[in-house]
Amino acid sequence: MELVRATEAAAIRAVPFIGRGDKNAADGAAVDAMRKFLGTVNFDGVIVIGEGEKDHAPMLFNGEHVGNGRGPACDIAVDPIDGTSLTAAGRQNALSVIAVSDRGTMLDASSVFYMDKIVTGSAGRGVVSLDQSVGDNIREYSRATGKPVGEMVIAVLDRPRHAGLIDEIRSAGAGTRLMLDGDVAGGINAARYETRIDMCLGVGGSPEGITTACALKALGGFMQGRLAPRDDAEREKAQAAGLDVDALLEIEDMVKGDNTFFVATGVTDGGLVEGVRRVGPMIRTESIVLRSRSGTQRRVIAEHLAEKWL
Ligand code: FBP
Repeated sequence: MELVRATEAAAIRAVPFIGRGDKNAADGAAVDAMRKFLGTVNFDGVIVIGEGEKDHAPMLFNGEHVGNGRGPACDIAVDPIDGTSLTAAGRQNALSVIAVSDRGTMLDASSVFYMDKIVTGSAGRGVVSLDQSVGDNIREYSRATGKPVGEMVIAVLDRPRHAGLIDEIRSAGAGTRLMLDGDVAGGINAARYETRIDMCLGVGGSPEGITTACALKALGGFMQGRLAPRDDAEREKAQAAGLDVDALLEIEDMVKGDNTFFVATGVTDGGLVEGVRRVGPMIRTESIVLRSRSGTQRRVIAEHLAEKWL
């Protein structure tokens, strides 16, 4: 629960930058706030998935130690804002995210920018696969869940690289939910019950893939990933880092064990959580806190006295 203070702080500090057109300024404010709060948390954390290499990001870089060093040894994934462009444009679905697992359990996939992903609810286990065609996945998942194909909604990042994928989804008879950004929320919404999203497909960031896998451990959903190097140079970088770019990655390959925590606070309003809002003298935040060991999903609505945040 301590972790949620860090995503709340990042989301609150990003607010002045919502709709102001400067995504780096929004990200910078969120990074600074998250770092400050992470320093107070009782753990000995190492950032496995961060804001890039040390030279490119002065804060929360891969390999940085965070926490007060007194608690358990952990791997950390941070995404101070998933949806920096959404934030800068004032659009929906931007989140501040942290995932934590035991030390040595998170896959460091930082040498490859993109990952191909499939995410569904638990009914997808043993039913869908990145090795099957899109049409087969949709038909098989429809059979497993008893939901007609014509009612299925597949979330996909709206990118030129997905033109063929989008055609395949529609030819199979399902509909798309085209996302401008933010496939962490897209994946989580595919895994949760009672959402309009049945499946999340396509190529997004590989750090976001690992973060989503941490959330899925608690949600009990299904996910597979496969690294998608952009060119030979990235392929070689991955091999040098000991990654098998052809491997079909199951959740357990992305984050091992059963001790993951995932917290996300809404920056702007979205399907998963509401964004930060001012209510009289208070600033209200909504977050989800997922814990794999207990399989618990908590929603935390917090009110923060605005004058303390001046
Ligand atoms: P940022 O907030 O870091 O910009 O990431 C947003 C995002 O949409 C992720 O959710 C997604 O995984 C990735 O970018 C997709 O990358 P691209 O925009 O290059 O397709």
